[in-house]
Amino acid sequence: MNKPKKFIETKEYKRFAEFCDACIKYKYIGICYGLPGVGKTLSSRYYSNWDYIEKQIAYKRADDIGIHADSRILNSRTLFYTAPAVKATKMTSDITLLGSKFGVVKTSYKAKFLNQEVKYSMDWAEGIDLVIVDEIDRLKMQNLEQLRDMYDRNDIAMILIGMPGIEKRLARYPQLYSRIGFAHEFDKLSKDETHHILQYKWEELGFSIKMEDFSDYEAISSIIRITGGNFRLIQRLFSQIERILEINQLDTITTEVVEAARDSLVIGIK
Ligand SMILES: Nc1ncnc2c1ncn2[C@@H]1O[C@H](COP(=O)(O)OP(=O)(O)OP(=O)(O)O)[C@@H](O)[C@H]1O
Ligand SMILES: [Mg+2]
Repeated sequence: MNKPKKFIETKEYKRFAEFCDACIKYKYIGICYGLPGVGKTLSSRYYSNWDYIEKQIAYKRADDIGIHADSRILNSRTLFYTAPAVKATKMTSDITLLGSKFGVVKTSYKAKFLNQEVKYSMDWAEGIDLVIVDEIDRLKMQNLEQLRDMYDRNDIAMILIGMPGIEKRLARYPQLYSRIGFAHEFDKLSKDETHHILQYKWEELGFSIKMEDFSDYEAISSIIRITGGNFRLIQRLFSQIERILEINQLDTITTEVVEAARDSLVIGIK
């Protein structure tokens, strides 16, 4: 893959963004579930502008705080956090630390660049509307309780992201479950949208192959069939296609090439 990948605002992303907006509006806990590779994590990071925020809050020295920030920091009000694979005991302090750093960067930016008179808040959740917690399948009852407590103590919305089935697991914890306002399924791409992306959003996926490189419609159809609208599979399949074209010094994507690429994939093929 030799070009930078871009985020594509798919229909599923738009539905997800509406779901996030609704959770914020009603200050609910929302739960979002979907199969691996459909784009839950990437969409959450994109919604929260996390690639940018992460850099801003990674400061090492006090002098550096907010110096690379710009006006985007003022409009960002969502925290993104990935539940740890082990030892979730630090989860609450991790999230509050993220929130505090975020607040400090915002305040410093206002002081340094907007010359505003500022006060540094002691409340980590000030200026935060939403906390998104990814990979909640990893969490035990006790950790989920921590999140519920965090939600209860602060004036925030929360979105918990996990795999299908998590909504049923959470139903076993009545206190948490009773606070869930919305559940949202993050679905795979439809056939039409996959086709549209392959045809028009091609470059944005970061591959050097072009649409003209397809030999025929059949090759495209087989890609749609093999990947079943799963973003991760599309990425994987195309890396393999690129590799196969290169080693065989081919320049058209035929159905045979697509099938050879599929055979070298380990995931997702029925
Ligand atoms: N909207 C998008 N635009 C471009 N690429 C995307 C998009 N969504 C997903 N992808 C691609 O699909 C891959 C998988 O997405 P992501 O990691 O968000 O899936 P996930 O649903 O979080 O999966 P898991 O349940 O395994 O964590 C990404 O690494 C990226 O390459
Ligand atoms: Mg993920």
